[in-house]
Amino acid sequence: MSRDIKIAPSILSADFARLGDEIRAIDEAGCDYIHIDVMDGHFVPNITLGPPIIASLRHVTQKPFDVHLMINPAQPFLEAFAEAGADIITVHVEADAHLDRSLQVIRSLGKRAGVSLNPSTPASAVSHILDKVDLILVMSVNPGFGGQSFIESQIDKIASLREMIGDRPIELEVDGGVNLDTAPKCLAAGANVLVAGSAVFKNSDFAGNIAALRG
Ligand code: DX5
Ligand code: ZN
Repeated sequence: MSRDIKIAPSILSADFARLGDEIRAIDEAGCDYIHIDVMDGHFVPNITLGPPIIASLRHVTQKPFDVHLMINPAQPFLEAFAEAGADIITVHVEADAHLDRSLQVIRSLGKRAGVSLNPSTPASAVSHILDKVDLILVMSVNPGFGGQSFIESQIDKIASLREMIGDRPIELEVDGGVNLDTAPKCLAAGANVLVAGSAVFKNSDFAGNIAALRG
């Protein structure tokens, strides 16, 4: 089955001293989403950025901000990320005792609700919230850092989730170690959104790198 492939460059691999310019460049290079990794030094062993920086970047592009929250708790901050200009807000299954409620809150804020699974979390963790999500994000590395190697066991999980999704309008996104070798396997298993940090920012040919991932 053919589906639209979307490329979401992760700005974690961008030059943070020139973040606005980097986002403008990936926009012009033809990306679909801007993937923004938010880390709290608690849920994951790294710290990145929060709502004020997202708000200041909002005027740089019209492309959807795909905000990946690797924070625990996430619920107290959902409104702030919505106000900052997130279009998709993704929370982690493992970081939320009240996932069902968080997803409802995200939608009530007028945003698309995403849910993410760490590599060790089974696909079944999302089977009872499918009516409340717009996007499922499969982590194909342990979250925290860019530039890690793709964990092959996640291909089966992508395939299981694609089957579980059926004809629901839910996007299936993969994040971590996505490159020219692993992207085709993710797409074949049923993913339709590819997050890529290193593979997009590895050189200045962002347009070429994005087109190559699209296949
Ligand atoms: C990891 C982040 C990813 C990461 C991807 O915790 O969620 O978005 O930046 O980077 P690459 O594509 O280099 O693995
Ligand atoms: Zn991410």
